[in-house]
Amino acid sequence: MNRIAVASDHGGYRLKLTISDILREKGYEIEDLGTDSPESVDYPDFARDVAERIAAGSVKRAILICGTGIGMSITANRYRNVRAALCNDVYSAKMSRLHNDSNVLVLGGRVVGPGVAEDIVETWLETKFEGGRHTRRLKKIEQEQLKNVIHELVTDRIEGRQKVDKGMIEKIVAEAIEVLGLGNEKENGAEK
Ligand code: RB5
Repeated sequence: MNRIAVASDHGGYRLKLTISDILREKGYEIEDLGTDSPESVDYPDFARDVAERIAAGSVKRAILICGTGIGMSITANRYRNVRAALCNDVYSAKMSRLHNDSNVLVLGGRVVGPGVAEDIVETWLETKFEGGRHTRRLKKIEQEQLKNVIHELVTDRIEGRQKVDKGMIEKIVAEAIEVLGLGNEKENGAEK
């Protein structure tokens, strides 16, 4: 995993530049999705852009930065397959990988200085998901997402005046599994 998407609002702009430079020096390929100046912008626009790419599978890991990290994390976690972790300390960054398999690291550009941020990012990138019992817990989150997707698909069909019979329900469930990419997953790590 050598490619990382980064995005920030104005509150995280400076830290985004610093972190991007450090990561490039370490050999990572950075996909910078803005913002491109310290001008005031709205963080949900940038969180959405990154989260949609994670949901679609075109981005695997990303770093989001706003003033506190709170707005970015609230927004990003509304999207499918996004596990965004707001980590303004090294311990949380480590645990968010070990236990939560976080795929988006969120930082507060007005909370952490560049030195601490560098340690957080390094730890987050180098720590592997433990799997085992944590996989079971992540699956419970996926089940909630699955219920929401099924609900959306059923609502669409009903609004389109399609008959929602047993056959249709089976198709909808298969479609929802496909949408969430749950059909072809492998276990991450060994059960403990
Ligand atoms: C912008 O002033 C600030 O609200 C934003 O960067 C972020 O901290 C929101 O959660």
